[in-house]
Amino acid sequence: MPGECDYNGALSPRTFPFDPTRTSPLRIGPHQLKNNLIVAPMAGVTDRPFRQLCKTMGAGMAVSEMVASNSLLWGSEKTKRRANHDGEVDPISVQIAGADPQMLADAARYNVDQGAQIIDINMGCPAKKICNVMAGSALLKDEPLVARILKAVVGAVDVPVTLKIRTGWDRDHRNALMVARIAESSGIQALAIHGRTRACAYTGEAEYDTIAAVKAEIRIPVIANGDITTPERVKQVLEYTKADAVMIGRAAQGRPWMFREISHFLATGKHLPPPAVEEIHRVLVAHLHDLYGFYGEQTGVRVARKHISWYTRGLAGSAAFRHGMNQLQTCAEQIDAVNGYFAELSGLGERLIYVEETGVMNKPGRMEVEEPAELAA
Ligand SMILES: Cc1cc2nc3c(=O)[nH]c(=O)nc-3n(C[C@H](O)[C@H](O)[C@H](O)COP(=O)(O)O)c2cc1C
Repeated sequence: MPGECDYNGALSPRTFPFDPTRTSPLRIGPHQLKNNLIVAPMAGVTDRPFRQLCKTMGAGMAVSEMVASNSLLWGSEKTKRRANHDGEVDPISVQIAGADPQMLADAARYNVDQGAQIIDINMGCPAKKICNVMAGSALLKDEPLVARILKAVVGAVDVPVTLKIRTGWDRDHRNALMVARIAESSGIQALAIHGRTRACAYTGEAEYDTIAAVKAEIRIPVIANGDITTPERVKQVLEYTKADAVMIGRAAQGRPWMFREISHFLATGKHLPPPAVEEIHRVLVAHLHDLYGFYGEQTGVRVARKHISWYTRGLAGSAAFRHGMNQLQTCAEQIDAVNGYFAELSGLGERLIYVEETGVMNKPGRMEVEEPAELAA
């Protein structure tokens, strides 16, 4: 079996033919999702506007940015915003992070009071700021503590609790199966697994053998995560791992329509045409207005910059456009600049052409990992 970090991403030929029954919608406790496509929690990205957008463009569920379990932070502007689900499409899944069972139980209760319908526990984040306090993926090192946390949180709320993990701490401590068994016996109702160890951070390719091994052993739904970027990849991963759903993070940044593209491909085996320039422009402008409304002008303009950059990544003239974007300070200036840029793009054709240094291609550039400033050590 290939080891993670140096895994070459190849899946064996047993991935075909595809069994369409594998695409049946996921159920988490009382929540019947419309499909098995989930937006991964991403701090600084999966805020309410982005979750809502992905859901309207086809995602079955979107997990919130993590909310700290430290109650001292609950009054902060940031935490209050993260706990705001006004108008959000069901089911509302909120991720909590921390290392203390009682604090996590309190955080779960607090978030349910704020509208969470599913509580997700973060044991997958490799960020130093999180792992240094033995939270996130660092918890995988301490299985008895994992058991205490899961028991405390499941016992604290009457909504389903889900768990997100990596395959283990490092290559020599790949204990996803053990943690999965603890999760199942603790009453966890779905388990998402990112096919990398904590030590791998985001290097190399995700591996799916560990996910397949866990799925074969436990009865609760398993959600496969890591490097899933295309409809074909979704199909391969579902078939290879027999997982109940996939979770997509970076590939959805700037491409919220990918969920409808995947749904269509899984249902028909055919690709939808890529969105027209006009639609991308419309989606982006609506997303920007939602961000401004949610964060206010100053923060909204700052948060919007990275989304604009993702939507336009790899597009003709986008480097200069993004550079100019960083100088703009108001919503009106940002919208004007976006309108101007898309007017130029639409002159190049109805569909977008992505240009990289190496030439012209019809898909966006490589995925990048940008650890949000708030998580950097
Ligand atoms: C910017 C960023 C922020 C993230 N924040 C979180 C987080 O708060 N909680 C978590 O469990 N995982 C977090 N992750 C990990 C993702 O949920 C996901 O597991 C990882 O990106 C692999 O999936 P992908 O290859 O589809 O991106 C984050 C990833 C990124 C890129």
